[in-house]
Amino acid sequence: MSDIEKTEFRLPAGAGGREPNSAIDPLAQPTDFELETNLRPKSLDEFIGQPKVRNQLDLVLTGARKRGGAPDHVLLAGPPGLGKTTMAMIIAQEMGTSLRMTSGPALERAGDLAAMLSNLMEGDVLFIDEIHRIARPAEEMLYMAMEDFRIDVIVGKGPGATSIPLEIAPFTLVGATTRAGMLTGPLRDRFGFTAQMEFYSTEDLTQVVTRAARIMDVPIDARAAEEIASRSRGTPRIANRLLRRVRDFAEVHADGHIDLLAAQQALVLFDVDELGLDRLDRAVLEALVVGHGGGPVGVATLALAVGEEPSTVEEVCEPYLVRAGMIARTSRGRVATARAFRHCGVTPPEGVIGG
Ligand SMILES: Nc1ncnc2c1ncn2[C@@H]1O[C@H](COP(=O)(O)OP(=O)(O)OP(=O)(O)O)[C@@H](O)[C@H]1O
Ligand SMILES: [Mg+2]
Repeated sequence: MSDIEKTEFRLPAGAGGREPNSAIDPLAQPTDFELETNLRPKSLDEFIGQPKVRNQLDLVLTGARKRGGAPDHVLLAGPPGLGKTTMAMIIAQEMGTSLRMTSGPALERAGDLAAMLSNLMEGDVLFIDEIHRIARPAEEMLYMAMEDFRIDVIVGKGPGATSIPLEIAPFTLVGATTRAGMLTGPLRDRFGFTAQMEFYSTEDLTQVVTRAARIMDVPIDARAAEEIASRSRGTPRIANRLLRRVRDFAEVHADGHIDLLAAQQALVLFDVDELGLDRLDRAVLEALVVGHGGGPVGVATLALAVGEEPSTVEEVCEPYLVRAGMIARTSRGRVATARAFRHCGVTPPEGVIGG
């Protein structure tokens, strides 16, 4: 991994952006990508919400600092956009060490992982995003690395192949996954601690929006911040994104000041309904309620109906629809609740869940 990635988190605002020219162009506006980087909280104290995860992590990190060693390996689980990557960065920051980032799909061969591991310095945090998608040979190498800080590197092929043991520096693995259930038992067992990230409350998201608006230097009314928060599907990434779209709207249609009316009008324009459901969420609900009479129906069928990958429907749409009490997962498939029927403007039939 290059040093640029290693130190990206420490660079000043905007310098880690993907467009090198924007750094020297005085007129360049920060891109959404750069903004997302600037908006990331940089310490546990700055991190809004997730009180349970924050307290647990605080304990783990403080304990490690007292012992002067690397903290135990941490697994961060939860739907997209809840702050898993942010939390990994904070762990490295709080420990005063470097963060090395990679992802499960990038570790196709054990050699890819061996290269990363052998480059680690003592105390480094290795962040593996989407760790459930790691290839089997790399996963097996990871077991040993996590447990004994040692790996066996196979050199050569066929009968002449030999395995060379290699010591690696004590490090902390931080794994992130949207599908904790897809992790194999042995891998899950090697994490000292699993942090389950939950959807955020509207109050917490209101704070996220208010903080982001302050960083972006956008004037916003308290009620407008709350309106954006309540339509953000419990997800800070969505809250920040909606804020940027509402800001665009307010710049064009008002004087740049975001009040409740501007927020509401912008959200209607961008197709976010009062529950925060977007076009895809609604398409999934319609397919279930209207297309399949409320189910039960399999995810693959629903995905086909809305033209998306089953994994997208399962990892992105479903967790929130389940939490919002719209759909239930049963052994026979997905079932719409009375609330889902009403949301689609259909009278719920007899005997439906929540009817
Ligand atoms: N607790 C928080 N307070 C304020 N902003 C937050 C918080 N958590 C996340 N964010 C914002 O939300 C955005 C998304 O967070 P992040 O990239 O860490 O999510 P993620 O869980 O890694 O998502 P994915 O699963 O898609 O990788 C970040 O840019 C950050 O600004
Ligand atoms: Mg991430």
